[in-house]
Amino acid sequence: MAERIATARSTSNIAFIKYWGNRDDTLRLPSNGSMSLNLAGLETTTTVRFAPELEADRLFLNGEEVEGKARERVSEHLDHIRGLAGLALRAEVISENNFPTGTGIASSASAFAALTLAACRALGLDLTERALSTLARLGSGSASRSIPGGYVEWVAGTDHDSSYAETIAPAEHWHLIDLVAVVSETHKEIGSTGGHSLAGTSPLQEARVSDAERRLALCRAAILGRDFEALAEIAELDTLMMHAVMMTSTPSLVYWSPATIEIIKAVPGWRRRGTPAFFTIDAGPNVHVLTTPEHAPRVREWLLGMEGIVNVISGTPGGPTRLLEKHLIPPHFDQSAAASV
Ligand code: DP6
Repeated sequence: MAERIATARSTSNIAFIKYWGNRDDTLRLPSNGSMSLNLAGLETTTTVRFAPELEADRLFLNGEEVEGKARERVSEHLDHIRGLAGLALRAEVISENNFPTGTGIASSASAFAALTLAACRALGLDLTERALSTLARLGSGSASRSIPGGYVEWVAGTDHDSSYAETIAPAEHWHLIDLVAVVSETHKEIGSTGGHSLAGTSPLQEARVSDAERRLALCRAAILGRDFEALAEIAELDTLMMHAVMMTSTPSLVYWSPATIEIIKAVPGWRRRGTPAFFTIDAGPNVHVLTTPEHAPRVREWLLGMEGIVNVISGTPGGPTRLLEKHLIPPHFDQSAAASV
């Protein structure tokens, strides 16, 4: 019998119109549609191997075995895929990020997108991109957007099958650079999953959600027309609206650090003075500053010169989640296992 093993690589993505809050937390059906760009340079590679001798799922992340909640979340996701394939085999999941972990840079999007494709392929499931996107969404909402390539829209939908992401323009359409200003290396207290379930407690969430179609239309037009100024305006507004919801939820979520605010105040000024740049912030203190290749070296220098910025990591427009021929090797790998892999 063929080996049940496969490896996939996926990029992280940065949303210009954010996903915050679900109409169904279990299915991760979002309260509003969102729009993002995949980030080559911020990638997860994952090998999944299903085998009859395994008694439980095992997860290895960046060379270390991981247990507890993270492993359970992976296991639950694998259950969906095992269910589709009609197989009960346990798996070994070996995953590596090429960006520093613990920096608050989103890894669940690339992690669950790569896991979905690798696990489906390993079990012989040949799904469409749309089906893979809906499946990845069950693991992490933003992972649905890392399945297709380039500039992506996640259509909110009303049920499992209608909530998926698709490419609106390929990566080559517009060469933007994402400079991620790493503000803090500490782990956040409430992650996105906990945050989504609090969104509805903010009196501002309804206003944010009911205005989402308008922002999505402006963002889509800005991307398709490569209109930097229009994208900057709508992306900054959307980020501030999401953080207003976070700050006014119960309990209140304030993800920003002093350095985050310094960047929020500086970037629009840079833009007014002729440097194309805008900010967007996820559920943490780090700030993504989008710019063009021509201006990236200067913007990077400015960010590194600001107090409280520990590092700047770059991402460029990235393609879809894809399969790789070469598999990752688990840290406990030895010669006896080598014969079977
Ligand atoms: C603020 O996709 O990380 O980055 O579905 O619970 O895994 P889960 O949440 P996640 O939420 C992302 C929230 C965000 C905005 C965005 O990327 O759209």
